[in-house]
Amino acid sequence: MKILIVGSGGREHAIAWKLSRSPKADKIYCAPGNAGIAQYAQCVPIGAMEFERLAAFAKEEAIDLTVIGMDDPLVGGIVDVFEAEGLRVFGPRKNAAILEGSKVFSKALMKKYGIPTARYETFDSAQEALAYLETAPMPIVLKADGLALGKGVLICNTLAQAKEGVKTLMMDKQFGGAGNRIVIEEFLTGREVSVLSFVDGKTIRIMTSAQDHKRAWDNDEGPNTGGMGTFSPSPFYTEEIDRICRETIYQPTVDAMAKEGRPFQGVIFFGLMLTEDGPKVLEYNARFGDPETQVVLPRMKDDIVDVFEACVDGTLDQIDLQFEDNAAVCVVLASDGYPLHYEKGFPIHGLETFLGSEECFVFHAGTKFGADHDILTNGGRVLGVTALGSSLKEARANAYRATEWISFENKYMRHDIGKAIDDAPGTQDAAGAKD
Ligand code: AMP
Ligand code: GLY
Repeated sequence: MKILIVGSGGREHAIAWKLSRSPKADKIYCAPGNAGIAQYAQCVPIGAMEFERLAAFAKEEAIDLTVIGMDDPLVGGIVDVFEAEGLRVFGPRKNAAILEGSKVFSKALMKKYGIPTARYETFDSAQEALAYLETAPMPIVLKADGLALGKGVLICNTLAQAKEGVKTLMMDKQFGGAGNRIVIEEFLTGREVSVLSFVDGKTIRIMTSAQDHKRAWDNDEGPNTGGMGTFSPSPFYTEEIDRICRETIYQPTVDAMAKEGRPFQGVIFFGLMLTEDGPKVLEYNARFGDPETQVVLPRMKDDIVDVFEACVDGTLDQIDLQFEDNAAVCVVLASDGYPLHYEKGFPIHGLETFLGSEECFVFHAGTKFGADHDILTNGGRVLGVTALGSSLKEARANAYRATEWISFENKYMRHDIGKAIDDAPGTQDAAGAKD
């Protein structure tokens, strides 16, 4: 089969790597791809939002299946464009990708179908939002309705901050039309966990759990980023919690979308908060997580081509998704100063150390080829160094050891990725694992 991936980050690198292990994938392409993806795929210089050009390329090359990695093209309707051309594509149509594309939609869906989530109100007028805040309990959470590069969620501790937030989103329109409507919701406390799933419109298969570290600095301080590292599985996601989520969240979401005439086919990413009152949905994404994918796919036993095809064909009930009984940790190597001000274009050394390893992987997030075919930093998040281990503690030690194989001028990383696992119930050697 010829397979095309649309996207250019660490998530798409992990998808390309997993596809490269399938005997069914004869040739892999990636648009636009990056210097790491080029190891497994032929990179095609077409942007992820150029739907017509991508579809024309897929027709010309007789691509058998296209896999969409990113949220923007999904929410923008790339799947509908491919389907109209008779092309096979993995990902939700526009009317289902709205599950991620509109917070107002997803909150209303959860309310209508009784899926547990934070209590909320929706506003399309700044005056009404400001008036509501006067009597609302703090902290409180403001969310832009539309996609805002992952920055449209503001956690506000005081009334003054919340009012400022309404101004940022609705009056100054920092995220453009995404802030025309906002959701104001109850602040939830607990452990966060990311659960990815495959969906074929009716059936849902849950992948292993993961946890992301979104803040830039150690101890979860500093500005929010696209993700500084992940680990999988989450020891806080117990069998009991899994059972509750399957009953109250996962299948109910898939059924709700089908009932609304928006059957979802692709990946649903459930961002969950494990609260004292049980698991609640913080957000839905209509795609694989980044950098969650980098720790989830290396643990997956199945041939991913079979799973993608089952989602497209509506035969996911015949797939028994399986994961290794091991653990993975991904540490993001970033450019110092990310996510604010940082330099790029520095040569990266040591990538060859990973070649042939079945335990340590380096997924490229922001890299490009230099003039001499050397590899240069090309973004805030540069690489995701991922390692497997028989336990989370071992995977973490392996990942941090592998981060030392890589050097570039302004290399920055967090030193506490996966450290929270030391506090997990049943972690007997917690004290010894702390660094
Ligand atoms: P989102 O972009 O919706 O994933 O939100 C970004 C982050 O904001 C989440 O990963 C949570 O850490 C936090 N967050 C979102 N909603 C809430 C909430 N209702 N209560 C507490 N934290 C939240
Ligand atoms: N890691 C969070 C996301 O992919 O949205």
